Amino acid sequence: MGKIFRIAIDGPSGAGKSTIAKRLALELAIDYIDTGAMYRAVAYKMMSEGISVDEVDKIKSMLESTHIDFAKGETILDGEIISDKIRTPEISELASDVSALPVVREKLVKLQREMGKRKSVVMDGRDIGTNVFPDAEFKFFLTASVKERARRRWNQLKEMGKEIDITQVEADIIKRDHNDSTRKINPLQKAKDAVELDSTTLSIKEVTDFILNIVRPSL
Ligand code: DC
Repeated sequence: MGKIFRIAIDGPSGAGKSTIAKRLALELAIDYIDTGAMYRAVAYKMMSEGISVDEVDKIKSMLESTHIDFAKGETILDGEIISDKIRTPEISELASDVSALPVVREKLVKLQREMGKRKSVVMDGRDIGTNVFPDAEFKFFLTASVKERARRRWNQLKEMGKEIDITQVEADIIKRDHNDSTRKINPLQKAKDAVELDSTTLSIKEVTDFILNIVRPSL
């Protein structure tokens, strides 16, 4: 291909998108953009400033002075590294509500398009193949059973020192799936031309290799 290309990876939470996207970025020496972290960063800032989801005017002006960036695998909000602070169940829930707001989506989608304009990227999220880059060169839709996704999220939280009942994690996932796929604008949806992959019984290496086997021959 020899020119810039975009890899879109969409799917529900806990399907393994970010793990796979990070691997692909490393293998292909391209940038990884975690769009979920961007919605989480906005949720985090709203929480810190005491702004609620129905205060649209306040959110709008807050966004005007909000800078979100990625560097060395970290998420940076207004110059502060917030990578760990945005991985809490509270932020997960708020980010899902915040991501349904048109004012937030407009701003973040614009930023995401700019990020993928000049260089090759792998971008994961919910609407990358359908809305952010409908013309992405490669599109994948990654899924896994609810039970397996809950198990993975529970493990992640445990590694971070957070012990939560797994049935609670599962209930949160079901709620977020519902929120993310039923919202009015750009809901979680498989793009018609995306390759669907169920990772329930696959290893990280198997999923990464599957994708690389599709991407590499076209480069
Ligand atoms: O992938 P994640 O769990 O970090 O995403 C956090 C929330 O952001 C999730 O509930 C859905 C939303 N989101 C979105 O609406 N569009 C994206 N492109 C990425 C995430």
